Amino acid sequence: MEEEKYLRKLKVVLYGVGAVGSLIAKFLLEKKGVDIVGAIDIAKDKVDKDLGEVLGLKRKLGIKVSKDVDAVLGKAQVDIAIHTTSSFLKNTYSQIASIVEHGVDVVSTCEELSYPYCGEPELAKELDALAKKHDATVLGTGINPGFLMDTLIITLTAPCQKIYKIEAIRVMNAATRRLPFQRKIGAGLTVEEFNRKMKDKEITGHVGLEQSIAMIADTLAWKLDKIIVEPVAPVIAKKKVRSERVEVKAGCAAGLRQKAKGVMKDREVIVLDFQAYIGAEEEYDAVTIKGIPNIKQKISPCVHGDIGTIAMVVNSIPKVINAPAGLFTMKELPVPSAAIEDIRKYISNQTVFQSGD
Ligand SMILES: NC(=O)c1ccc[n+]([C@@H]2O[C@H](COP(=O)([O-])OP(=O)(O)OC[C@H]3O[C@@H](n4cnc5c(N)ncnc54)[C@H](OP(=O)(O)O)[C@@H]3O)[C@@H](O)[C@H]2O)c1
Repeated sequence: MEEEKYLRKLKVVLYGVGAVGSLIAKFLLEKKGVDIVGAIDIAKDKVDKDLGEVLGLKRKLGIKVSKDVDAVLGKAQVDIAIHTTSSFLKNTYSQIASIVEHGVDVVSTCEELSYPYCGEPELAKELDALAKKHDATVLGTGINPGFLMDTLIITLTAPCQKIYKIEAIRVMNAATRRLPFQRKIGAGLTVEEFNRKMKDKEITGHVGLEQSIAMIADTLAWKLDKIIVEPVAPVIAKKKVRSERVEVKAGCAAGLRQKAKGVMKDREVIVLDFQAYIGAEEEYDAVTIKGIPNIKQKISPCVHGDIGTIAMVVNSIPKVINAPAGLFTMKELPVPSAAIEDIRKYISNQTVFQSGD
């Protein structure tokens, strides 16, 4: 307790106050050792409003949501920004760069940032150099990609002497997830609409299987010949199912199934199978490692995606603050753990926080 008196609170800015950013904000408001000092978003219904109102709280927080990144990051001595706007690094690069240029660390839920070396190696190199130049640390993480189909699998390989094949499957009932997620998996669309929207990239499906496979393979020093991402398939509802906000008629898309495979010397050595649809009866996360020894692990029911994402992001804050400057992925940072106490207790370089309140 004595210690907390002289350690100032971590100053956090939210960059993106959509579904995930809002849940993170609410969780941070409950946490000890951290202060939200700013919020950035471009959505018309959020800009210039008090963050408390945007979060649907009954009280004002005295923080206006702003679209002016420099004004928000320039005014306070911000320690870290939580970035939650989009899945694709081409879209988010300039946003993340604008944070880093202020010397502020970043944890982002941008799926492609979780392992940018496979899809966007040039941008990854640039971002790493920029972060080092401005003494900032950048991490892309979340529940998946970020944990269930990569970091967890990598950790489970630790007691293996040999590995021949890795398979992981995640099955979840999308009815319990946030609305933007239900939309991006096409829940409620007719099959024709689903296929058209997927083709026109109006809905994205799950982003990150390729990144997870590449992260696992690089960790094991496996040189994959290719990563095959199979076409996204709608899961068709056999009967009418619904979530709180989405109704799926029988014969329509309740969600989707996506598979990706890492191939080495004509063998499928990593297979990831992602299924998210409204009405899934058995929800689970399972990993099977064929090797010496064989490992089978099943989490049942599956980890809740939104709760898990919020926790992964917040629990990563101390890991990112503790890390040196540069772009990091989950495979380089220490094995994650929950930061359930005052978040300052997990910061190793306390000298940074010895001034102020
Ligand atoms: N890795 C994981 O496990 C994981 C888990 C959950 C979510 N995610 C990803 O995290 C991202 C956020 O998810 P979400 O459900 O919160 O999405 P969302 O509800 O659409 O929220 C995104 C927010 O960011 C705003 N925004 C967009 N571009 C911006 C910009 N240039 N500057 C400032 N604000 C901007 C959006 O405004 P507009 O509405 O006006 O565009 C919206 O308010 C998604 O890409 C999602 O796929 C990853």
